[in-house]
Amino acid sequence: MSTLTIRNLAKTYPPNVRAVKSIDLDIKSGEFVSLLGSSGCGKTTTLQMVAGFVAPSAGQVLLDGKDITYLDPDKRDMGVVFQSYALFPHMTVAQNVRFGLEMRRLPEAQIRERVADALSMVRLDGLDRRYPAELSGGQRQRVAIARVLAIRPRVLLLDEPMSNLDAKLRGEMHVELRGLQKRLGITTILVTHDQVEAMTMSDRIAVMANGTIAELGTPQEVYDIPSTEFAFNFLGQSNTVTAKVLSHDEASTQLRVGSSTIRTPRRNGGLSDDVRLFIRPERLTLSSPEAGMITGRVATRLFLGNTWTYEIDCDFGRLRVIKVNTRGGQPQEGELVGISWNEADMQSASGELADA
Ligand SMILES: Nc1ncnc2c1ncn2[C@@H]1O[C@H](COP(=O)(O)OP(=O)(O)O)[C@@H](O)[C@H]1O
Ligand SMILES: [Mg+2]
Repeated sequence: MSTLTIRNLAKTYPPNVRAVKSIDLDIKSGEFVSLLGSSGCGKTTTLQMVAGFVAPSAGQVLLDGKDITYLDPDKRDMGVVFQSYALFPHMTVAQNVRFGLEMRRLPEAQIRERVADALSMVRLDGLDRRYPAELSGGQRQRVAIARVLAIRPRVLLLDEPMSNLDAKLRGEMHVELRGLQKRLGITTILVTHDQVEAMTMSDRIAVMANGTIAELGTPQEVYDIPSTEFAFNFLGQSNTVTAKVLSHDEASTQLRVGSSTIRTPRRNGGLSDDVRLFIRPERLTLSSPEAGMITGRVATRLFLGNTWTYEIDCDFGRLRVIKVNTRGGQPQEGELVGISWNEADMQSASGELADA
């Protein structure tokens, strides 16, 4: 299908709002990439520049190698679904979907076929004669997506298209839309602030902060081996442990935390440096005090149904531990426990977030 290249893309709004500082991204044909970040980090502005609705202050957008930076939006062959999509209220579902095809003057037989296809793809067959007011929020959102799919765009741009749906329907839509995108092989960019959405749907995630990409990789890469402190804390949860470097050998580092000595399998920091290490709460395991690498006392525990969350006071400060609920005996508040981990899971942030 189509490749998309974004080079040094930037947008400054007057007088001096640097909405997007510099974005570089190569999206392969058929790839699904999410721009994930909190509100105001520049996701929508980036997508709008790709779509052609906002003129960049600098940089380029290339579609299949061709510079389209200043091409009109309607000449880009991209399908865009905005957060606040608007269906025509006085038109039926089928009329809404066929509108774009009529504008493109497709032959009637082809229009009928495409409308039927698009509606069946989003599982709305049979509802073609309904009006938007007669649909649920989720169904309306699917009409908006069908309308865009019907024109068979080379690139699909989605700006928080599922944010109005309740959690269960959103989860179903993630699976449906991802399946559909794979079947059609449409190169796709999804803008979202929802980590689960980005994780479940994407081939790669670009974690954005302050108008730049802080971290780029597969969902597993950005979660398991992020290179920035920002990503450790932004994605999921993380414990921060401050440790002093005692010694190095070829492939590992010995560090002191409180009265404990720990090891990391990578070279970290310089001698006597204080370094910050990160470990996910679910990578810490609890045991009897004797069996643990360190000991600690349970300060609080929270029951979340599928998991227990523990806050444990120890030599490292307060550590959060997440344990799957197996209905077995769970440590109580006030109890002394052992805490252990795989050395490889205690990581440092190798790269720092560019403070551009
Ligand atoms: N038209 C505009 N004029 C001025 N500032 C804008 C405009 N659009 C967005 N911004 C600012 O640019 C920044 C990024 O906005 P946006 O791309 O919408 O972020 P996101 O989609 O990640 O929430 C924000 O600080 C926002 O206030
Ligand atoms: Mg936005």
